[in-house]
Amino acid sequence: MASEELIKGLNFALNREVSTFLRYMLQGASIKGAEWEAARQMYLSEVTDEVGHAQYLANKILMLGGTPELKPDLTPPPTDVRTMLKNDIAEEQIDVKGYMELAGLAEKEGLVDLKMKMEDQAADEAGHAEGMQRLLG
Ligand SMILES: [Fe+2]
Ligand SMILES: [Fe+2]
Repeated sequence: MASEELIKGLNFALNREVSTFLRYMLQGASIKGAEWEAARQMYLSEVTDEVGHAQYLANKILMLGGTPELKPDLTPPPTDVRTMLKNDIAEEQIDVKGYMELAGLAEKEGLVDLKMKMEDQAADEAGHAEGMQRLLG
């Protein structure tokens, strides 16, 4: 059985993922101009990664006996692309830390598959932050 703390942490991560893919979807739809075409494509392709993370978390919460609770952050995203990228780099870095904490908690509770998956998701988010940093120049 998973602890309340772990289920709560997975739900927190689920909400961050749903908030992220909604924001990336909107940002990908709103970016204009040839100079930011690479950023637009990056956001469109990362929506799929974040949806995959959210799906894994929702399934796992249910498998561990919890209930997924959706309360995403629906704050309208910025319109300036540099501001988007800077904000999202910071958010991705927060997600890396969050997933490493969840990996530690999963390990303590003997959930080896969850531990490894949380590390994979941390690595995905670190890769997203790096890709965004590259686009900022
Ligand atoms: Fe993610
Ligand atoms: Fe990400």
